[in-house]
Amino acid sequence: MTRIHSLGYVGFQSPQVAEWLPFANDVFGLECDLDESGAAQIRWDDRMYRMRIVPGEDDRLLYLGWETGNRLDFAAVIEDLRGKGVEVVDESPELADERRVSALASFSDPFGVRHEVFYGQGHMDRTFRGQRATSSFITGDQGLGHAVLIVPDMEEASRFYEDTLGFKCSDVVDVGLGPMAFLRCNPRHHSLAIWGIPGALGLNHVMVESTDIDDVGRAYDLAQRSEYEISASLGRHAGDEQLSFYTRTPSGFDLEFGADSLVIDDDDAWTMRRLDRRWGNRSEIWGHQFRPLPPQSSVHPYPAEVAP
Ligand SMILES: [Fe+2]
Repeated sequence: MTRIHSLGYVGFQSPQVAEWLPFANDVFGLECDLDESGAAQIRWDDRMYRMRIVPGEDDRLLYLGWETGNRLDFAAVIEDLRGKGVEVVDESPELADERRVSALASFSDPFGVRHEVFYGQGHMDRTFRGQRATSSFITGDQGLGHAVLIVPDMEEASRFYEDTLGFKCSDVVDVGLGPMAFLRCNPRHHSLAIWGIPGALGLNHVMVESTDIDDVGRAYDLAQRSEYEISASLGRHAGDEQLSFYTRTPSGFDLEFGADSLVIDDDDAWTMRRLDRRWGNRSEIWGHQFRPLPPQSSVHPYPAEVAP
């Protein structure tokens, strides 16, 4: 398996930055504040940030940050990618500082999605305080949670994320909405999922996992009473067995807020499963009724439409 340890951070641009304060703090009990540049920094553990929303003219994923364990793993990942023909850029110490990491490199997937690899992220020991009474969130060796990317070509995406990047496929789910592959790099069932929808590219959702099912229930109550749209009701996935619900964020993608997810402790013992509607399989054990909301502004046509 890859020497990438976990998904460390997500960077996104959006015209709606300030709206993240009530969304993240009041509904979900995360810790969100605005830095001197006007970006929202969102924490759910002792890392300096797990998600950063910077002001921008449209809703767009900027980068996914992949953590490596130390300097040697960082160098090994870069060497491995270069050996497989990936163009990896050694980023400047200034940009590494801005990301609050010790060193940073970047590369792109076949569709131009930017990925960053780093080690040594800034740490604020025992300082995380959820902005309302909550327990804690599952991070550590499982990283921040997971992200789901919509990609225009599943075959090409699988070749890149599995063959080149070295993620392992835990499950494939194909229930009529387009194929999804759930990819892991640590005991979390998936740190990244890719969802094949021809002609589209973007961020579908980010998942944050609480240690406590009751926190999910309380957040569900608060979200239903809030101005934000629930995009999928409470339910439990058949794949990662997560009990969760989805809310449309101020920036157009969804936040999945969940608990009680499957952990793959014995990596060698796991074999990939397939859930296929043609065979009568279901993607949900129960719930997760998706609502017909407007298309996500975080997902864009691919190839990009060129202005005439
Ligand atoms: Fe998810």
